[in-house]
Amino acid sequence: MSSSAFQWLRAALLIAALQAHQSGVGAAQPPSSGQSRTSSGTTLPASTTVTDVSSSTSTVTVPTGVNFPPVGSLKQDFSAAGLERLWDIVGSVEPPPFTTTRVPQLPIPIPSPPPPLYPSWFAPTPSDILPNLKLPKGFLFGVATAAYQVEGAVKNEGKGPTLWDWNSRQPNGVLDNTTGDVIDLQYYLYKEDIARVAAIGLNAHSFSISWARIFPFGTANSPVNQAGIKHYSDLIDYHIQNGVTPVATLFHWDTPISIAAYYGGFTDARIIDDFVNYAKTVFKAYNGRVKTWYTFNEPRVYCSQIAGYPFNATLSPNVTAATAPYQCSYNLMRAHAAAVKAFRELKIQGEISFKNDDFVGIPWRANNTDDIAAVERHAAFRIGAFSNPAFTTGDWPTIMTDTLPPSFLPRFTEQEKKDNLGSADFFATDPYRVQYIAAPDDGLAACVSNTSHPLWPECHTVVLVDTNGWAAGLSPDPLSDTWLQATPNFVRQNLKELHTRWPSKKMYVSEFGFVEPFEDLRTELFRITEDVTRTNYFMNFLGEMLLSIHEDQIPVAGFFAWAMIDNAEWSSGTSAKFGIQYVNYTTLERVYKRSAFALSEFFKAHVDA
Ligand SMILES: *[C@@H]1O[C@H](CO)[C@@H](O)[C@H](O)[C@H]1NC(C)=O
Ligand SMILES: *[C@@H]1O[C@H](CO)[C@@H](O)[C@H](O)[C@H]1NC(C)=O
Ligand SMILES: *[C@@H]1O[C@H](CO)[C@@H](O)[C@H](O)[C@H]1NC(C)=O
Ligand SMILES: *[C@@H]1O[C@H](CO)[C@@H](O)[C@H](O)[C@H]1NC(C)=O
Ligand SMILES: *[C@@H]1O[C@H](CO)[C@@H](O)[C@H](O)[C@H]1NC(C)=O
Ligand SMILES: *[C@@H]1O[C@H](CO)[C@@H](O)[C@H](O)[C@H]1NC(C)=O
Repeated sequence: MSSSAFQWLRAALLIAALQAHQSGVGAAQPPSSGQSRTSSGTTLPASTTVTDVSSSTSTVTVPTGVNFPPVGSLKQDFSAAGLERLWDIVGSVEPPPFTTTRVPQLPIPIPSPPPPLYPSWFAPTPSDILPNLKLPKGFLFGVATAAYQVEGAVKNEGKGPTLWDWNSRQPNGVLDNTTGDVIDLQYYLYKEDIARVAAIGLNAHSFSISWARIFPFGTANSPVNQAGIKHYSDLIDYHIQNGVTPVATLFHWDTPISIAAYYGGFTDARIIDDFVNYAKTVFKAYNGRVKTWYTFNEPRVYCSQIAGYPFNATLSPNVTAATAPYQCSYNLMRAHAAAVKAFRELKIQGEISFKNDDFVGIPWRANNTDDIAAVERHAAFRIGAFSNPAFTTGDWPTIMTDTLPPSFLPRFTEQEKKDNLGSADFFATDPYRVQYIAAPDDGLAACVSNTSHPLWPECHTVVLVDTNGWAAGLSPDPLSDTWLQATPNFVRQNLKELHTRWPSKKMYVSEFGFVEPFEDLRTELFRITEDVTRTNYFMNFLGEMLLSIHEDQIPVAGFFAWAMIDNAEWSSGTSAKFGIQYVNYTTLERVYKRSAFALSEFFKAHVDA
């Protein structure tokens, strides 16, 4: 590609990054170039006018006014009035249409499966994909959700507010103004949701527990909400009764607003004791019933997200937008290691880890030494940041410590390194996509040593096209998810890279999935349920995963489709659909899409019974 074409590409990527900023974190995953901030790690200037890619002529102005009390100004008050004061930060909330747990009529009626998509000479049906290769015994083949995205009932049964309840009400916080107030109402419909997973023969559900339901005020010295403990206890029991293995995440981005207001959440070290106290409470409550645990979902994305609008109003006064991601990473990693230490001291049964986001990457120009080095930077900053400490060295990647002074990235003590190393029982990855990585166009050296360089400190860009201008893979709906591409041909290589760099006895593909293009514009059910792009994405990926297991000896022991149902897709709201089931937001009815049947058929044909 000519250098002017490359400049053009850069501009296009910057627009994508700004768009991602405007719409926030695209999904369960980040946009390619660092969601709510530019790749440089600095926030965008106030009132930045960016091109809105939904229409090449319109523009969007990033607002500056957000409503959050000065961090540290709010007095701790654990009374009912104190809880209302926290809700005042959010504003009024839409109550759910009903407030009792619905019991579904069993058995769940299963509609007749869809006819084959293609003639068999063009593409096999799900059961005919590599039919002689079976999944390993005990394989967890399930779906994933996160509390904020599906639960609704945000102010019911004693729950405290979270930063996502708040973000959805800030100007331009969420693309289509979707809130989590009602959404799928899984809080009261969980029995139906679990029964529907069991009914199609899938055997696991990875969900997250909302910290603010267990501790409405977040902190270790604050009261436990017994209604919250009981809710997840019942939910876990219902999973087990229905033969669906419950997999629990302690923190999937829904920070209690309390701890953000008291001290700036993860940008202050006080988070560690508060998180560990929450973790211990939950471990003890559900010990023996949940056997697979995650402390954190995609910590790298979370720590980037909080440095950007509007979460940048909720940071400790001791950090800046540029240092916040790294102060967050330091506190979060220590909180993870301390929670795992407690897990082991309490002799909690089962296994524990955290979920990595992102991919290692492919050098954009195959034999270009700067692009090859840029891949290493991408791997270090996006995955190594947490997986080097947990799996290989106990410490930050040297690429990070060589670049970031301790004022940005605090250094671990010797004891902390010991606590980090081995603090994960298995490696979990959310490998939605694999993309090309390029060095800055003025070369790596010019960036690494220059803190004013727009790409410092990561000093790489994610490129969506090869050097001939062809896409790395199919893009979904450009309105909602600029970061995502379907890249099945890179699946095996990526899993191999991950396993080589961060060796483990067991891996989980803890999330993967795809937006069906323009699904949110479809109004007739027969168009909605015909999610061909998502079905093909899953089937391609699963075939490659079988080859990873059998030919590359990658120890994948579970995989979780994102998502069980359509949901509040972070800053994309309901405009990005990831569900293998449709949710009618008028009736809250769930409907299986083609992809749900394809996953079911694939699993039944490949399970090693
Ligand atoms: C947060 O980021 C936005 C967008 O860059 C900026 O306009 C705003 O001033 C920042 N707010 C704070 C409190 O730093
Ligand atoms: C979201 O809410 C804002 C403020 O009320 C409004 O200006 C905007 O049009 C809304 N956007 C959508 C997509 O409804
Ligand atoms: C900022 O850091 C200082 C020194 O570590 C600490 O005493 C203070 O409590 C911090 N401020 C806030 C608001 O957290
Ligand atoms: C990269 O280098 C290898 C070995 O020198 C060579 O075989 C390959 O063709 C090169 N690839 C490209 C795209 O230039
Ligand atoms: C560092 O980067 C900035 C921004 O790109 C540039 O203006 C400046 O000249 C660079 N400094 C050096 C020493 O290269
Ligand atoms: C959702 O439910 C409403 C109310 O019953 C109905 O009118 C609408 O057609 C449903 N939508 C779809 C796509 O089925």
